[in-house]
Amino acid sequence: MNDDGQKRDAPATPHASRLTPDDPVDSVVAAFREEAGRGVSSRSDFERLKGRYLGREKGLVPALFAGIRDVPPEGRAAFGARANAAKKEIEEAVALLSQALERREVEARQAAEAVDVTLPGRRARAGGLHPVTIVRRRIEQIFLRMGYSIADGPELENDRHNFEALNFPPEHPARDSQDSFFVDRKAASPLLLRTHTSPVQIRELARRGAPLRVIAPGRVYRNESVDATHAAVFHQVEGLVVERGISMADLKGTIEEFFAALFGPETKARFIPTFFPFVEPGADVAASCIFCKGRGCAKCKQSGWIELAGAGAVHPNVLTACGVDPEEYTGFAFGLGLDRVAMLLYGFPDLRLLLEGDERFLSQFASEA
Ligand code: PHE
Repeated sequence: MNDDGQKRDAPATPHASRLTPDDPVDSVVAAFREEAGRGVSSRSDFERLKGRYLGREKGLVPALFAGIRDVPPEGRAAFGARANAAKKEIEEAVALLSQALERREVEARQAAEAVDVTLPGRRARAGGLHPVTIVRRRIEQIFLRMGYSIADGPELENDRHNFEALNFPPEHPARDSQDSFFVDRKAASPLLLRTHTSPVQIRELARRGAPLRVIAPGRVYRNESVDATHAAVFHQVEGLVVERGISMADLKGTIEEFFAALFGPETKARFIPTFFPFVEPGADVAASCIFCKGRGCAKCKQSGWIELAGAGAVHPNVLTACGVDPEEYTGFAFGLGLDRVAMLLYGFPDLRLLLEGDERFLSQFASEA
């Protein structure tokens, strides 16, 4: 702080002499240099230091200027000049300290946010398709190749589509809550969770008319007690073909083709007559056991066959209910148990595995698409 003017004035103004140990300007500057020299450790530390010297109210530098009143008039100019120089030095030093602090804060922040690129990566575990989805897609591919399209229907159905138009008589036991989950019995056509995918036959045929060739995979619900081979929620794939001149022979040929594509070319299909209200004739369809090739084993309970579907020629009443003339068109339909097929293809023993979400089971299918 070499102030020539001040030096010249000094002898005449002993009060303001900077050589005096308790000269107020010198002592403020000296105290600041010492404190600032120690540095600041934090933003609040810095703010305290800045406030102590430059604070408008109680700062030591403003106090110097206030003290100018006590300096004899002839020394005031010199004192003022030195106080200004001190103020400038302190302000500049404070600005530098602030910049340094800011740099350190940025560095600290960057260090905290830094990614350690030398750490080993966390491998993302890929999910997989559910076995029922895998099997559904395979079945869809097979039927798409045969010229079918894929249809969908609501899981919350009404009595008309689930039963009535499918030729179920009013007193049929499936209409009882023993077998069906009713949601609203008082609706004009009572609402229930569909017990099979067959109502999609009605919806598609009524909407699109004949000729028609569709499959309709989906979830179905039955009021069953759950065990290794029964679930209250399971999956079916419905098939429906309505064209001129369709017969049971077309059904058999289609099912044989389908089994061969899904289980292997040597697989045989067996049809045993049975009753479903919406087909005539109706059949229970079984595939020759894929484990023992029909010789008989534990999986097929020594029968050589595994039952997979219901099927038949579409009942004329169903065609009529959908506005299709049964004299002109005939058709076949089938309903396949999807979960059963998955059990068979993958050889697992309990249907409940499909519902439990156990990763140890499901991850075994992750590599399949
Ligand atoms: N809907 C029948 C069932 O759930 C299966 C079936 C479908 C039978 C189509 C014949 C024709 O059991």
